[in-house]
Amino acid sequence: MADSVQVRPALKVNGERLWSSIMSLARIGATPGGGVNRQALTEADARGRSQFIEWCEAVGCTIRVDAIGNLIARLPGRDSHLPAVMMGSHLDTQPTGGKFDGAYGVMAGLEVLRTLQDACLRPARAIELVAWTNEEGVRFAPSMMGSSVYAGLMRLEDALSVRDVDGVTVRRAMADIGVHPQGEVSGSPAAYFEAHIEQGPVLEAEGKTIGVVTAAQGQCWFRLVFHGRAAHAGSTPMSMRADALAAAAMAVTSLNSIGRQYPPGCATSGRMIVSPNSPNVIPENIVMTAEMRHPDDAVRLTMEEQFRAAVQAAAWGHGVRVEIEKVLEQPAAPFDAACVEQIRQSAERRGYACMDIVSGAAHDAVAMSRIVPAGMIFVPCAAGISHNELESAEPGDLEAGCQVLCDCVLAASAQ
Ligand code: HGY
Ligand code: MN
Ligand code: MN
Repeated sequence: MADSVQVRPALKVNGERLWSSIMSLARIGATPGGGVNRQALTEADARGRSQFIEWCEAVGCTIRVDAIGNLIARLPGRDSHLPAVMMGSHLDTQPTGGKFDGAYGVMAGLEVLRTLQDACLRPARAIELVAWTNEEGVRFAPSMMGSSVYAGLMRLEDALSVRDVDGVTVRRAMADIGVHPQGEVSGSPAAYFEAHIEQGPVLEAEGKTIGVVTAAQGQCWFRLVFHGRAAHAGSTPMSMRADALAAAAMAVTSLNSIGRQYPPGCATSGRMIVSPNSPNVIPENIVMTAEMRHPDDAVRLTMEEQFRAAVQAAAWGHGVRVEIEKVLEQPAAPFDAACVEQIRQSAERRGYACMDIVSGAAHDAVAMSRIVPAGMIFVPCAAGISHNELESAEPGDLEAGCQVLCDCVLAASAQ
């Protein structure tokens, strides 16, 4: 990406309008606990996508829906031959998600487009704002599905064939909510920028407004199935059981201690489906997830090897059979040095307290960083809480992150 270009400081985003957009988007899929539930390709997601399209068309964008359902709003530039500059994030959320995870980055991009419209400014390059399909990976694993297909990290057919717990495929879910792709998944922007809340406690603890994200830690996801034998809980001697849940519980305890053994890495089992799930039947079948993350891929490999051994020992110890399938392998991702420097310069020029930071969470920018120069802008969230209805952020911080996004996108689209 070209060296950073001094951007006219006159262009100022409208923080109140940004906040109002985030709050009105949060009403779509709002939960009683004050959060949002817009899981990918559900009816609530469909309403969020429609709102996004309406707002983007109102600022003069054309909309493209690609074959995995990514929504790409394009504001033409003066020179249609130049590759566009892209910004974006995701509209889908966790089941008990917050108002800001993903939504902030999409609304910040919308605010940049609105600011350009107010200023009647038309940069040389087109600017694209993307809402990626299924970043969270809750209903359809793995996460970052739309951006991974776009970046060539996941085959389109494999993504469209993924099923949820009810057996519904991504392809079917897209059709059910009226997502009608208009073309294949393709594109190669000149650069990609994503604004996001940190989802951790560092920026707030350090009193910083902007996180200059230098990299994201790597991660791997697993799906495990423990096959035991259903039997009567009262009349089956302990020595004669094949208890799938007892084995899975051992695996979860081992996973947790492996996560603690390799800081700053982490390890989580977030989902467990027990069958027949009856209080007086020895569990026959367990489907569970496991994920491990670490900034150093070699250490994460050691964690993975230890976990696989612990899973086999747990199964053997309880006389059950276990299947373990890796559903996501995502190496640690450094972001593009020029994009990182652009972000840092904008924050410093604007007088925002900033610091370099490595992302603990994964983001669509990680997928994009494999194919184009990419950068991320973090802002603090209260107590680092995210993936929780209590997620919150300060309007001033959100505006600052949006301002940095605007500066970077303008600089990248000016030539
Ligand atoms: O899992 C993640 O890191 C992201 O929030 N989907
Ligand atoms: Mn996110
Ligand atoms: Mn998330």
